[in-house]
Amino acid sequence: MRDNDLLDRWDRENFFHPSTHLAKHARGEAPNRIVTGGEGVYIADRDGKRFLDAFAGLYCVNVGYGRPEIAEAIAEQARELAYYHAYVGHGTEAAITLAKMILDRAPAGMSKVYFGLGGSDANETNVKLVWYVNNVLGRPEKKKIVSRWRGYHGSGLMTGSLTGLHLFHKTFDLPLPQVLHTEAPYYFRRADLSMSEADFVAYCAAELEAMIAREGAETIAAFIAEPVLGTGGLVPPPRGYWEAIQPILEKHDILLIADEVVTGFGRLGSMFGSDHYGLRPDIVTIAKGLTSAYAPLSGSIVSEKVWRVLEQGTDELGPFGHGWTYSAHPIGAAAGVANLKLIDSLGLVENAGTTGAYLTAAMTRALGGHPQVGEVRGEGMLCAVEFVADRESRTFFDPAEGVGAKVAAALAKRGVIARAMPQGDILGFAPPLCLTQAEADEIVARTADAVEEVLGRAVAEA
Ligand SMILES: Cc1ncc(COP(=O)(O)O)c(C=O)c1O
Repeated sequence: MRDNDLLDRWDRENFFHPSTHLAKHARGEAPNRIVTGGEGVYIADRDGKRFLDAFAGLYCVNVGYGRPEIAEAIAEQARELAYYHAYVGHGTEAAITLAKMILDRAPAGMSKVYFGLGGSDANETNVKLVWYVNNVLGRPEKKKIVSRWRGYHGSGLMTGSLTGLHLFHKTFDLPLPQVLHTEAPYYFRRADLSMSEADFVAYCAAELEAMIAREGAETIAAFIAEPVLGTGGLVPPPRGYWEAIQPILEKHDILLIADEVVTGFGRLGSMFGSDHYGLRPDIVTIAKGLTSAYAPLSGSIVSEKVWRVLEQGTDELGPFGHGWTYSAHPIGAAAGVANLKLIDSLGLVENAGTTGAYLTAAMTRALGGHPQVGEVRGEGMLCAVEFVADRESRTFFDPAEGVGAKVAAALAKRGVIARAMPQGDILGFAPPLCLTQAEADEIVARTADAVEEVLGRAVAEA
């Protein structure tokens, strides 16, 4: 296990980690974890410690760790043909098969899949597609993209701009000027506590209408949104939100990009979040659950309406000038095919719905009455516990106290990995979709202990 005693030092000296406090890591002041193996919902580190990974990596290992079916599909593909590109009409059996499997599962009206590597590059592609479409349609002014505060769409230049979280903007000179942010559909954090859920939905819709009126609909190309806010706090939309937003987009001829990087392929208990909430997207972003992260692969699923304009564009302008060396990489595609087969054969979409609901219900029973828990919420296999200094007045903790991070650390000590979400004291759970009820019970029991360690006892027991 510890066959290289220098690994820890090499890590600190050589490895530039993403989303990390760089100085503390390099100085050895922050804990690191060197992960060596995984099986089902558990991972192990090189110290021999086992953790229940209740965030499925970065909510991506949807089928769980250690699936030989996917490992073998990858190995077979690597032996047969590790790589060929997809430019000028080239393809592989794996990529073509996967495109067909995705379209067979996709929301209504979808036509083709463009393959990338990760969620960020897929959303970069989506913005370019939207701009290209409006150029082909002779609307060069219609280019702005509306995102929501607390949306997460990646951390590239454009996608980091679309992301509505301060950490991803500050000191990076973002957001870029083509991006606008509107109200997050986050009822618990509404500014005016007297608003009912219906009032708040009407407010979100009115804010969007006002932004469109201010900017001019002729300047706005698309609205990008996750069906359920993910990294921004794991927040299911208030009832009626999508019913209120979609007609506004349609009225102003604004395309809808449904970012299903987290929700695609079952996490909400439906194959796609768009179907779960009745969205009619023009473009759907997929990544994470497409391969359960066994290999990097993402996709932009485009609707027939968008595809027709893309065809018109190449007839008028020549070949489509957009591609990555690794677009439709055969190893990622082989992993995707094996992964989607597993999701079907194991009934994981259904399990995400039932066991996910069980997890959120059990978490609510355990922590819903705690004086420092403002809300326990969830949808499918997503669950969040939001901490507050005072429940009655909904007063948040000073972010400098790092309450969410402290609870996550106390929980990790107890062998369960959850994620302290980046903006707010929110403990997030997004376990593999194969989670069992016994494993859900383990998550809840340990979370209750961790909360007690950091914030004191839940409720006075009878
Ligand atoms: C909704 C959503 N979109 C896009 C991304 C970016 O994906 P990646 O990190 O693969 O670039 C993420 C990543 O968490 C995401 O949650």
